[in-house]
Amino acid sequence: MIIKTIKNIPGSEITDPLVFQQRRTLIKAMAAMMLTGTSIRTGRADSSKPIWSAVPKSRLSAHELEVTPADATENYNNYYEFAFNKEDPSSLAQSLRIDPWSVEIGGEVEKPGTYQLEDILSQHPLQEYIYRFRCVEAWSMVVPWVGFSLGDLLKTAKPLSSAKFVKLTSVHQPDSMPKQRNNAMLDWPYVEGLRIDEAMHPLTILAAGMYGNILPKQNGAPLRLVVPWKYGFKSIKAVVKIELLKRPPISSWNKFAPNEYGFYANVNPDVPHPRWSQNSERLLGSGFFTPRRQTELFNGYGEQVAHLYRDMDLRHFF
Ligand code: MTE
Repeated sequence: MIIKTIKNIPGSEITDPLVFQQRRTLIKAMAAMMLTGTSIRTGRADSSKPIWSAVPKSRLSAHELEVTPADATENYNNYYEFAFNKEDPSSLAQSLRIDPWSVEIGGEVEKPGTYQLEDILSQHPLQEYIYRFRCVEAWSMVVPWVGFSLGDLLKTAKPLSSAKFVKLTSVHQPDSMPKQRNNAMLDWPYVEGLRIDEAMHPLTILAAGMYGNILPKQNGAPLRLVVPWKYGFKSIKAVVKIELLKRPPISSWNKFAPNEYGFYANVNPDVPHPRWSQNSERLLGSGFFTPRRQTELFNGYGEQVAHLYRDMDLRHFF
């Protein structure tokens, strides 16, 4: 594998100048969406063409760049606070209260604080990030997220040098979340974690929208993490708290089944899940006869992220 540091990646692979022209419009549109609950397109000239893509183009065929239809992405969800199946979260999650919303940032930082979502969104210009997303259950999709860099948000809180890990916590709202109310399965609220360098990596984002619209509740509104080179369970929804820590946090799935869901959870076709192969994946929204896609190490983002793990044996740090 070619190992490139992020400094070596040409800017053109990371961002598109068009985005910068459209930023102001998008911020205003998203702010309006947050306030009114309406749905507004990003104002792209041609909605079939991505305005921003971090997918390493050289490694993708035209087919793989195809964005998954929103209908598939919004009606096939993993949201265990609401249901253990894929079909019910899209209706059940509508009871989630997301306004007002704030995010608390604390732990090993110089400037801890609680930030209103509107302030976060107006201070961190939104961009579109078209990422592949690979669930640990061997299905995948390509989603045009609208969001901003998690690292930029963390920098506003001024991390101390003692901050080595980041813990993210989802909302605890048992009156609207049936599985929290019944204390079912996981220890609630849902918790995930990253190493600080993973959290600061430019591919790691907090998303507030997708397909140019405000994020649907079942997909993690109003704010969710997206880490495209890791299995989907790391991409925690409805984030209310971010803590910088000296030691690794214990994530919900790791606590529930430590031999099945590791802390790192980097997409890796060579490390099978104890109950199934991770070699290939079913593309969400694709037809019955569409062949499965070969799963790639780091979900195809190796050129950007492999250097983060160069001293680690990935078979053991799963
Ligand atoms: N975040 C919370 N709070 N609760 C969850 O159950 N499921 C995770 C992740 N984030 C989950 C979560 C899993 S297993 C996956 S695959 C993705 O969300 C699914 O995201 P999607 O429904 O937008 O496809």
